[in-house]
Amino acid sequence: MSPFLDVKDLKIHFPTDDGLVKSVDGVTFSLERGKTLGIVGESGSGKSVTSLGILGLHKGRGANISGEIWLDGEELVGASQEHVRGLRGKKMAMIFQDPLSAMHPFYTVGDQIIEAYRIHNKVSKAVAKKHAIDMLGRVGIPEPGRRVDSYPHEFSGGMRQRAMIAMALSCDPELLIADEPTTALDVTVQAQILDLMRDLQREFDSALIIITHDLGVVAELSDDILVMYGGKCIEFGSADDIFYRPEHPYTWGLLGSMPRLDREPTERLLPIKGSPPSLINVPPGCAFHPRCPYAERTGDKARTEAPALAETEGGHLVRCHMAPAERRALWENEIKPVLETP
Ligand SMILES: Nc1ncnc2c1ncn2[C@@H]1O[C@H](COP(=O)(O)OP(=O)(O)OP(=O)(O)O)[C@@H](O)[C@H]1O
Ligand code: SF4
Ligand SMILES: [Mg+2]
Repeated sequence: MSPFLDVKDLKIHFPTDDGLVKSVDGVTFSLERGKTLGIVGESGSGKSVTSLGILGLHKGRGANISGEIWLDGEELVGASQEHVRGLRGKKMAMIFQDPLSAMHPFYTVGDQIIEAYRIHNKVSKAVAKKHAIDMLGRVGIPEPGRRVDSYPHEFSGGMRQRAMIAMALSCDPELLIADEPTTALDVTVQAQILDLMRDLQREFDSALIIITHDLGVVAELSDDILVMYGGKCIEFGSADDIFYRPEHPYTWGLLGSMPRLDREPTERLLPIKGSPPSLINVPPGCAFHPRCPYAERTGDKARTEAPALAETEGGHLVRCHMAPAERRALWENEIKPVLETP
């Protein structure tokens, strides 16, 4: 049987006055119901564009989109804008990175949930309002019966994030994408929100995608992890693959940049030198080569030939010219010992 969500070589390019922006340039992954995928990568690596692309939100806006997005047996890249719009809410929903931009300022939070709910459920306004109050209560908004009539700007940042989650979950979406759901929140609220999403996912058996630049956030929650660099998927595998058997030098850098409880937050074990690539003038060959400490090992190829995303073992995909045996030896002998330094 094919996976619930199957994304194959997705590309989303934006023609601009400065040139073609290759925001997403080869993203491949799959996700089953009841499972959680973490998407990680530095700022500007194409995480949000990928998720908006799955929801069909770039359609009809001049973007060049190719590849395949299969959701529950239906292909969405080739589907009409109207058709994909009809799937939003019940089939798939998103918790946006910026809740204010995703909520209408002139309507109360309750009205926005009620409206979304009634598109997919033939119920009276009163029934929908009761459902909205229920949902607000479940995401931890105090006095939901009163707050249902508040406007988005009357909520604090954390409350707005919760309201956004209530809105996204109000139709029990089969696929939920949460884009940096916790960055704006303090640590305690972050933990509460992540717990909440996990509970709701279990209850509804939905497929969940959590997008973050922080590997720590996805460590506990994710079954699988997709690592993005310069618009491309550079490594995809189970959470165990990524944390215990990572094979891409960029993933090693991300792991080395994770804060550790026993260290100063500013102390980085293996900092990634340099800055993320421009998506208009992506470096030729391997996009990571200007920053890769092992670029010499792949000789000219690093600068001239783009590595393909290839399976290294049981569903674990890596985009790097080094031979799998060489990558594994480097990880075991050079990288892992540094990360495990007490
Ligand atoms: N409509 C658009 N037109 C042109 N370029 C775009 C458009 N939308 C996004 N981009 C560019 O695509 C790149 C990837 O953006 P994206 O928002 O997906 O990054 P991200 O990984 O989500 O980063 P962050 O962690 O900061 O949220 C950025 O360089 C951005 O400027
Ligand atoms: S292909 Fe070469 S430059 Fe690119 S990540 Fe692998 S080793 Fe580094
Ligand atoms: Mg983003």
